[in-house]
Parts: sequence; C-alpha cells; structure tokens
Amino acid sequence: MEAVWTKVCDAQQVQPDTPFACEVGGKMIAIYLVDGRYFATENVCPHAYALLSDGWLEGTEIECPLHGARFDIQSGEVLEGPAECGVKTYAVRLDAGEVQCAIPA
Ligand code: FES
Repeated sequence: MEAVWTKVCDAQQVQPDTPFACEVGGKMIAIYLVDGRYFATENVCPHAYALLSDGWLEGTEIECPLHGARFDIQSGEVLEGPAECGVKTYAVRLDAGEVQCAIPA
C-alpha cells in the first residue's frame, strides 16, 4: 500500500521524552522524540481503549497508562502484557519544521 508523507504537527510541539498526541485523517498517532530522533506509533492501546500518549515513556518504551502494557516505539512490538499484540508504527521525517508521517493512502 502506498504511503503519503503527511504533516502531523509542528516540530516545536513535540518535547523530548514526552509523547505527543496527533490526529490525522482519522488516525490517532503518538509522536515521540528520543535522543533527537522522532518515532510514531498508533496512539490507541490494542488491549482496551487508552491513549499511549497519556502513558509513560522511558527510553524507547511506552507504557500504557491503563493496565501497564509496554511497547517498543521503534518496532511497535509488545514487550509486556496484558496487550497481546503490538501497535502500528509509522515512518517519520522532519521537513521545514513539520513532523511528517508516512500514512498509508
Ligand atoms: S488498555 Fe493498555 S494495557 Fe490495557
């Protein structure tokens, strides 16, 4: 499936080590800035309904605020339950002060 680079927020809106919630084209996305690199995952925890952007980011791991599942924000892989599957990740780039994600068309 082809992906389209789409602005999700301004770079200045994302603070280091603090998840930032965005919504683009009906998709809820969490943006992370860790060690100068941007990452993006879907923002809704696959276990139940909670926003990962409300959780705790430690390095490249995000912990869900509701039941504590942990995900690798680089791969989307679930590292610790109770979630049984990972989250989608998106490629991220910076362009003229915009954070852009590759969103499947
Ligand atoms: S809703 Fe995220 S672990 Fe339960």
